[in-house]
Amino acid sequence: MTTPSTPRKGIVLAGGSGTRLHPMTSVISKQLLPVYDKPMVFYPLSVLMLAGIREVLVISTPRDLPLFRQLLGDGSRLGMRFAFAEQAAPRGIAEALVIADPFLAGAPSALVLGDNLFFGHGLVEMLLRADQRPKGASVFATRVKDPERFGVVSFDKDGRALSIEEKPKQPKSHFAVTGLYFYDAAAPGLARQLTPSARGELEITDLNRLYLDRGELAVMPFGRGIAWLDAGTPTALLQAAQFIQTIEENQQLKIACVEEIAWRQGWIDKTALTKLAESFGAGAYGQYLARLAREENPWQG
Ligand code: G1P
Repeated sequence: MTTPSTPRKGIVLAGGSGTRLHPMTSVISKQLLPVYDKPMVFYPLSVLMLAGIREVLVISTPRDLPLFRQLLGDGSRLGMRFAFAEQAAPRGIAEALVIADPFLAGAPSALVLGDNLFFGHGLVEMLLRADQRPKGASVFATRVKDPERFGVVSFDKDGRALSIEEKPKQPKSHFAVTGLYFYDAAAPGLARQLTPSARGELEITDLNRLYLDRGELAVMPFGRGIAWLDAGTPTALLQAAQFIQTIEENQQLKIACVEEIAWRQGWIDKTALTKLAESFGAGAYGQYLARLAREENPWQG
């Protein structure tokens, strides 16, 4: 008999000062701003949930952490468990793994940035494939017009990753590495070995390069069915909201509705879903959950 592997745990990094969104973020975290009909952090959180992850650590600044606690609670209403930790200063994405080390307690992890939105056909299958890789790291790449703003990965002619660089002045490809990273249990130890970059941060790209050098980095390119949006500037934030609104109205289904996902995953039952619907009152979000709870057969709804 094989011993079951430790379930992967999630980390949402929702730190930073959101300077590119000032004054919107002068007194509140960027990741709590709305993207159409729900707080931004619901989008990355829902990605972890779709990967089957039920235990999540939310990392934010000392100023904003109390609000995340208020918004998310301990996770029990979603059949999940949420924990919270501070990142005292913006010392880089890779520091999240060091902060998360006691929470992970030897479990593999999936780290997602609190301002990254993912949507599309085939996403869940890719997440599950990344989750099932027992060793190494998996990251996702997507073609962008301005690769110099991101971590950039280049490939050989067989699609194997050759190099990974953080915000290179002369990018070797148009493929950006998105803010979603799956790691084995070695990641916190490796993150501790990193030295801060010129901008004073522990770079996630340096951690990913360690995995690449060990031959343990899987880079999974998104096909045309998957959209990756960041909401880091006023224009990007508005465009993300419009994108979500267009799809939600067209399909009459919500994107990143964490209550719906918890229910579809079987983590909460219909009674709990109905209670959640009531807790949101008469608004469109509550009505949507109530509709889901009423529909015996989704095809007749
Ligand atoms: C960070 C990472 C970068 C990645 C990007 C995705 O950039 O450092 O490698 O491509 O997130 O959102 P930053 O948000 O620090 O500019």
